[in-house]
Amino acid sequence: MTNFLDVDDLTTDELTAVLDRAAAIKADYREHGSTDLLDGQTLGMIFEKPSTRTRVSFETGMTQLGGHAVFLGPDDIGLHGREPVKDIARALGRYVDFVMARVFDHEDVVELGEYAEVPVINALTDDAHPCQTLADLLTIRERFEDPTVAWVGDGNNVCQSFVLGAAMCGLDLSVATPEGYEVDEGVLDRAETLGTAPAVTTDPEAAVADADVVYTDVWVSMGQEDEREQKLADFEGFQITEELLGDRALMHCLPAHRGEEVTDAVLESDNAIVWDQAENRLHAQKGLMAWLAEQE
Ligand code: CP
Ligand code: NVA
Repeated sequence: MTNFLDVDDLTTDELTAVLDRAAAIKADYREHGSTDLLDGQTLGMIFEKPSTRTRVSFETGMTQLGGHAVFLGPDDIGLHGREPVKDIARALGRYVDFVMARVFDHEDVVELGEYAEVPVINALTDDAHPCQTLADLLTIRERFEDPTVAWVGDGNNVCQSFVLGAAMCGLDLSVATPEGYEVDEGVLDRAETLGTAPAVTTDPEAAVADADVVYTDVWVSMGQEDEREQKLADFEGFQITEELLGDRALMHCLPAHRGEEVTDAVLESDNAIVWDQAENRLHAQKGLMAWLAEQE
């Protein structure tokens, strides 16, 4: 069973195939509208955390491919409440054709993937957000030829999956995080194995110096609300201002906390390509599901 729990569950060739498929599906949708590619198929969507883009893009994506999506929020499925994760996985897998899960503990998607007997897609854990990376890579390749990218902010779930995707695509990446908020060593090792690990620094100015694109995300991720005061203090100097961004493009997975990791002016400027990123969640995930449906 092929699961998509992080970007490097795919080989480099498979990642390219998924992105190519996404681009083709995007173009085809614009010209011809919905298809019946996943006619009669169902996606089960488990959410332990809130979402706008992920829920709507997966649900809409299934509709546009002729399938159907079932939303299962925390009140429907308590991952550690009513029954063990492995039992949820085995039951769900008897009904649906794909399972998508947004959870806190990455081990939960691993367990879902082990037991579901249908493809399991990670829609964000505390450690990884590979569907976001698919959309990011699609956005980058639509706009740039061989860009240099700087991540400025937390070495979080979005950053970690992006580090892996960048390594697989041969993107030149620098990562600036405050001390104590670095990307996990294990992720850097995986990136090194896949291609090249990013240059890491604690200096945002150094990271963006040669960059065409600057990527940031919230400092306080979902579930970290108690760390808010500490993180706001620790991330001082990491805000993406007009001065730091210059004429570079801004990427952000959204939702943004304006006035924290990015100013309102930057987000509202023409440099921000964040709405293309958001739209590409839809196309990238349609490409992923279409590709997964064809695997053994
Ligand atoms: N970027 C992203 O995953 O957004 P949501 O949290 O709104 O799904
Ligand atoms: N790092 C953020 C990403 C949200 C899409 C979080 O985990 O809350």
